[in-house]
Amino acid sequence: MSSASSRRILLGISGGIAAYKSAQLARLLKQNGHQVRVVMTQGAQAFITPLTLQALTGEAVRTSLLDPEAEAGMGHIELARWADTILIAPATADLMARLAHGHADDLLTTLCLASPAQKIMAPAMNQAMWAQPATARNAQQLRQDGWQLLGPDSGEQACGDIGPGRMLEPEAIFSVLHQRVVLAETSAHKQHIVITAGPTREPLDPVRYLSNHSSGKMGYALATAALELGAKVTLISGPVSLPTPTGAHRVEVETAVEMANAAEQFASEADVFIGCAAVADYRAEAPAEHKLKKRAGEDGLTLRLIKNPDIIAAIAQRPRGQNRPYMVGFAAETRDLEDYARDKLTRKNLDMVVANDVSLTGLGFGVDNNAALLLWRDSTGKESRQELPPQPKIELARTILHQALIQQTISKN
Ligand code: PMT
Repeated sequence: MSSASSRRILLGISGGIAAYKSAQLARLLKQNGHQVRVVMTQGAQAFITPLTLQALTGEAVRTSLLDPEAEAGMGHIELARWADTILIAPATADLMARLAHGHADDLLTTLCLASPAQKIMAPAMNQAMWAQPATARNAQQLRQDGWQLLGPDSGEQACGDIGPGRMLEPEAIFSVLHQRVVLAETSAHKQHIVITAGPTREPLDPVRYLSNHSSGKMGYALATAALELGAKVTLISGPVSLPTPTGAHRVEVETAVEMANAAEQFASEADVFIGCAAVADYRAEAPAEHKLKKRAGEDGLTLRLIKNPDIIAAIAQRPRGQNRPYMVGFAAETRDLEDYARDKLTRKNLDMVVANDVSLTGLGFGVDNNAALLLWRDSTGKESRQELPPQPKIELARTILHQALIQQTISKN
């Protein structure tokens, strides 16, 4: 691994039976050129000794917040600033609860509060504890606070139960960390990613419009995920009631024509363009200047609609190498997901399409979760696919972005 992608990883270990696997994780991280410092909770030390981790990492293991000897060396605030990644494996239900509520009652929780590092955890607990609504609430809160949760895995547990709650194997944690954080960050750093999000509104008169149910959540999650990776982000947003992700340049638009103008402008300086907005395909040919009145004696009203520009298709038609970013489109479908998605990939000349079935309850428009099928083609036209099961939009956004950045890098070489 190059030194550019070598990370300063603070490995936090909390008190679960899976703690013994952290030794292998520490070894893998060290072997692959990362700097590793270990912090153990009191509970963790009942399962594995600090000496083992010290031998594997070559660094003193920290276990206590109030340790004058350790503070004389690298103090806890210094340690919090040193880390560029905090990886907690295993993360117990209790640790998740304390982190979700902002506690700072031991060294590990204090470091998490004090550190601006990227934060990742691998939960591990009994399947009944993982299934508790309280744990689900804490997991949701942690995701919202920027934590990436890896796993848990499903299978036979140390206590004899079977179900979700096992910590992912060290090799799997290492592989996700390597792929998501290291590869994607190196390729996203200093890239300009332009994202369209939310609905458009097409006026019928001064008080009425045509629109759809897009809340902007999926597009804003993509913006957040891109910012996490150090990218420059322009978020071209239709009218939504979401706060701007910190660091994003938000360009507010109302209509498809306004969105098209902004997209044309910013796409010219973009490395990746992601069209997540639910753009109205049609607009009123002649919006009324004054409020439309109900007409006595007439049962209906005929509106003539005309086609809006296809924003993403227009940019994707640009010749490669001439202000044409890597183009990722969405496909919102209610049936024949894969066929329609493939059709959009071809017809709109996209590099990748993120197909989501918006007829499924609890997924798609307006909610916090989504699932998707990614389809992409390489420069020889060979098609690949990746199915992404239902999950929080922020997690989905990270995976979409990761795959898009990998494919964009491959397409440039
Ligand atoms: O905003 P949320 O509530 O979180 O919901 C997320 C979502 C369901 C809106 C999102 O996941 C999604 O599917 N967005 C695309 C919606 C859509 O318009 O899909 P489409 O299949 O009609 O369009 C295909 C692609 O062409 C999209 O990338 C779209 O942005 C683009 N398009 C469409 C029409 C048009 N005139 N110009 C375009 O650029």
